[in-house]
Amino acid sequence: MIIDIINKKRLGKELSYSEIDKFFNAYLDGEIKDYQMSALLMAICINGMTDEEVFALTKVFIDSGEVLQFTGIIDNMVDKHSTGGIGDKTTLIIAPIVSACGVPVVKMSGRGLGYTGGTIDKLESIPGYRTDLSDEEIVNQIKNIGVVVTGQTANLAPMDKVIYALRDVTGTVSSIPLIASSIMSKKIAGGADKILIDIKVGNGALLTTRKDAKELSRLMIEIGKIYQKEVHTIISDMNVPLGYAIGNSLEVKEAMDILQGKETDNNLYDLCIDLSSTMVSLGKNIDKSDAIKEVLEVLNKGRAYEKFLELVKAQGGDIRKLKVSDNLKYIKAPKSGIISKINALELGKLSVSLGAGRISKEDKIDFEVGIRLNKLVGENVKKGDVLATIYYHKDFKMPKLETIFDIS
Ligand code: URA
Repeated sequence: MIIDIINKKRLGKELSYSEIDKFFNAYLDGEIKDYQMSALLMAICINGMTDEEVFALTKVFIDSGEVLQFTGIIDNMVDKHSTGGIGDKTTLIIAPIVSACGVPVVKMSGRGLGYTGGTIDKLESIPGYRTDLSDEEIVNQIKNIGVVVTGQTANLAPMDKVIYALRDVTGTVSSIPLIASSIMSKKIAGGADKILIDIKVGNGALLTTRKDAKELSRLMIEIGKIYQKEVHTIISDMNVPLGYAIGNSLEVKEAMDILQGKETDNNLYDLCIDLSSTMVSLGKNIDKSDAIKEVLEVLNKGRAYEKFLELVKAQGGDIRKLKVSDNLKYIKAPKSGIISKINALELGKLSVSLGAGRISKEDKIDFEVGIRLNKLVGENVKKGDVLATIYYHKDFKMPKLETIFDIS
């Protein structure tokens, strides 16, 4: 009985493979309602899962669709995934860099989750950009230009897709077992041989403590072992947003700035170099120091930016039509000093209230709104300086400055 399974988990007991399989598949078939699945997800969030349960859930997610094979097309396929953060546009930057270094990239990305943005929403802010490539289109594009960034194909872990959308709006995103099975099922079904996971920690991430990040890392490595996948993890800070922009079109613009070498002195640039050189080193089986040299070369010679333009064009996007809102409001410094803190979570909440993220499953995203920071942590400001520009369309509640910036 459905209710017995929910109650069992509510009491913190271990579910068997067949209970997990039955419950989740019944949801996919429409026999279990959103509210029943939400209750189970909340019980999992609160009581956790044993490793065996996580392995079972991952298998159920994988088995809900196809498993892609790139053998003969890409040997030694490397994939990357971020657990999500505020202003995290790393995929838009590293996919073209890694591909320009000669390592093919097939990246299947997701939509926003909680206050964290999703790569697919960001890419859809480019008019015409298609995020629904078929398996055949993916293979053709990888052969032609060596890079694809698309949504999960309809038949790749379809169970995760529906659960992900439900988690987004039911306060059930920050669960280590749910994050591990969601990400690993997609990476395994996507055909990767080596998987790099960027685990974000901080108030603007799904996980807020290093202890939780380490536990997620352990669990993902264990899942990888079952499927003979080499899993590497990086734990990176998400107490401050990544780079300057938060919001879909604004983030695409910032990614283009980084690829064109216009911005090199911030946390986003540093993380992108780290992640892309790790991917190149895994893909080519070379030392990381050599991979860093290759990465810097494709960036400096403009080859990574060219690859980005090639990618956008191949997927039908017209970058000249990328737009941000013309309605601007400014957050100004009330006093002079040094910025000691920028609160990523509050910026994430503000961006969702502007319409850059979803509050309910059916919400349409406004691609043109968001926030662009003018100053980062550690910078000096004078009273009256603009700290951030807000791009908006609809009315929104201006947050109190001190909830976002600390000036000391
Ligand atoms: N990214 C995913 O794909 N799934 C999660 O659960 C969290 C981040």
